[in-house]
Amino acid sequence: MSKRFKETIAVITGSGSGIGEATTQQLAREGARVILVGRTLSKLERVAASINEPLDEPVATCFTADVTKEADVSELGAFIEETYGDVHVLINNAGASGQASLLDMEVSEWDRVQDTNLKSVFLVSKVIGKLIIAGREQESEAAQNRAIVNVASLSGHKAGAQIPHYSSSKAAVINLTKSLALEFAQHNIRVNSVSPGFAETPLTEAGLKNKRFEEAIQRHTALNRVGQPSEVADVISFAASQEASYMTGSDLLVDGGWMIT
Ligand code: NAI
Repeated sequence: MSKRFKETIAVITGSGSGIGEATTQQLAREGARVILVGRTLSKLERVAASINEPLDEPVATCFTADVTKEADVSELGAFIEETYGDVHVLINNAGASGQASLLDMEVSEWDRVQDTNLKSVFLVSKVIGKLIIAGREQESEAAQNRAIVNVASLSGHKAGAQIPHYSSSKAAVINLTKSLALEFAQHNIRVNSVSPGFAETPLTEAGLKNKRFEEAIQRHTALNRVGQPSEVADVISFAASQEASYMTGSDLLVDGGWMIT
């Protein structure tokens, strides 16, 4: 395995499960020091332990934060500045979904999903973006590849019934990615989004337990199957790597061909 992320310091939100966990594992395997961010320490510690246990020197560190809370995100920034000094890669992956029609939806449910999926990208990109720009060792190899990857969704491209809060938040993430890419280009920081289709994670677990739902998803997917978190993590890692050095403001669909059916 090539070490594309040698000496890179990477922050991954929502890294205690699913796509965030797979991405964290992948970046660490490829040489990055990884900072796992989420609300539940035990979930983060499980992932960090699986990364650190085989190694002589640990590369995974956990930080508990609710990424919808400005104070938590500020503390995360202070922790990274104090502990690492530098940071090169940010993966805004934390997300939440839910199902309700717009007419039945409580305002609190709208806010929960919008804040988790969209406001968090604003808050974390602002704090960690400043640290990436300020980087202490501008000449280092890792500093030559600085990138942010936002995890959006197929639903950000295509409306889905019963998820108006989710679809609209992810469409906004795709657009916010482009605004960030424009703003950060002058600092040579690339910003892209990755839009998964259906991947088998805790987020989709309940739905996929329903055989009819799973079959409907397979029918709508050209590759005729649900994706695995590692298949999304591979594309996130690509977007975060030097291999994508001329790509910014783009959205990469990883949907098994849902959009072409
Ligand atoms: P997941 O539920 O395993 O991962 C989401 C993670 O975000 C969880 O670990 C959760 O604890 C964390 N999180 C939620 N709210 C948070 C908060 N306020 N502060 C800190 N952490 C928080 O689900 P999955 O599928 O791995 O989701 C990862 C991303 O992929 C999400 O942004 C999701 O919207 C997106 N996605 C997933 C798809 C799928 O089929 N699994 C499809 C399209 C997009």
